Amino acid sequence: MDRIRLIGGNELNGEIPISGAKNAALPLMIASLLTDEPLVLQNVPRLADVKLLERILENHGVDIAVHGRRRGEQESVGQTMTFHAADIVDTTAPYDLVSKMRASFWVIGPLLARCHEARVSLPGGCAIGTRPVDFFIYGLEQLGASIEIDEGYVVAKAPKGGLIGGLVHLPKVSVGATHTIMMAATLARGVTTIENAAMEPEIDNVANCLIAMGAKISGVGTRTITIEGVEKLHGATIDVIPDRIETGTFAMAVAMTGGNVLLSGARAEHLQSALDILGQVGATITNEVNGIRVQRNGNGLQAIDAEIDPFPGFPTDLQAQFMALMTRADGVSHIRETIFENRYMHVAELARFGADIKVDGQVATVTGVPQLKGAQVMATDLRASVSLVIAGLAAKGETVVNRIYHLDRGFERLEDKLSRCGAEIERIAG
Ligand code: EPZ
Repeated sequence: MDRIRLIGGNELNGEIPISGAKNAALPLMIASLLTDEPLVLQNVPRLADVKLLERILENHGVDIAVHGRRRGEQESVGQTMTFHAADIVDTTAPYDLVSKMRASFWVIGPLLARCHEARVSLPGGCAIGTRPVDFFIYGLEQLGASIEIDEGYVVAKAPKGGLIGGLVHLPKVSVGATHTIMMAATLARGVTTIENAAMEPEIDNVANCLIAMGAKISGVGTRTITIEGVEKLHGATIDVIPDRIETGTFAMAVAMTGGNVLLSGARAEHLQSALDILGQVGATITNEVNGIRVQRNGNGLQAIDAEIDPFPGFPTDLQAQFMALMTRADGVSHIRETIFENRYMHVAELARFGADIKVDGQVATVTGVPQLKGAQVMATDLRASVSLVIAGLAAKGETVVNRIYHLDRGFERLEDKLSRCGAEIERIAG
């Protein structure tokens, strides 16, 4: 299994190109199931999760083509890919594929809308919490579907003639349920209203793609989304937005090490709450034409409290990285995680660097220490893994991060991007 070895202590300086967002690319790929015409996605990141979803979509009959890189084009430019679901040959998404990645469950919406039936394995729990699918079942039932659980599969059937628009009031903001119900409703008869909808930028990206495919959607970017069903959707070409979580991760890395880095292609409005907090911590954040510049020169890190909330709040996918940063701050920081009940797996690993963190229910109390020491640590999930890299970049001596396949799920060329800015970091194969 590959590992990452790094020696802490170097500042980061230079430019890091931000890749396309994993959490937008995945639902955009799934949206291709809604039409028999090709959907072209630009700026798709090269990630293990994208590869896995390709296999799942191919199993349903989607033809996938990756367009070659144009002459002189950098590897940092995302891939252009075509997804063509001319015929859906199988409406079952099997356990061995769905169990590896929760987002693959979302195929249930488009399959049900277009084929009027779907049989999708339950995704199960994962390292960050139980993550049930009750909102999906409730939402699809509100569109007229009948749903049964059979041998670990969710078996969904639309009424004769297809799904029917309805009112879906989500009990809690859910990104996945919003994507799935929105996609399903595009081909339903009549009007669907999603109340308490997610407002994450990835929802906008998918809604804009659906609109480009002929869907009628309004209210995107608010808590109430309205979808007027149409008979058919067509092909389209759409760009995947820049990854706000990758952006925030590198911004925290620079705040941690000091230095001056341009995060090129990044969009500040997608992570303003996190950038505001980084400003209070002691980093200087400047919006430039080509992206966001992050600097910290000499001054110490200030301990700041953060509450994790759905967008536009501070994202849960940056909580672990922020905690790593706070381990070196002056004073005590309180972090409240309100989205997932078990997203503190990195605490025990950060303690190996000498961090002082106590968890009581939803709240982690981080007392800054003057120095972290390099250690052997283990990645437990995607964002937790990268928090260990951030800690290692500031720690004295050598750090080895084991089980980095988690990192490859969501970060494109992480060690390459960091080493080009001066970090001493390498991947050890095997
Ligand atoms: C998406 O997950 C992201 N994944 C996650 O990123 C992210 O952490 C999460 O949204 C929150 O922002 C993708 O976009 C692929 P939710 P999702 O449904 O949609 C509860 C990463 O590291 N809930 O918004 O699965 C749920 O348990 C990943 O890239 C129910 O109770 O998250 C959680 O407490 C990890 N019942 C809350 O809602 C349901 O049926 C929000 O989860 C659905 C969700």
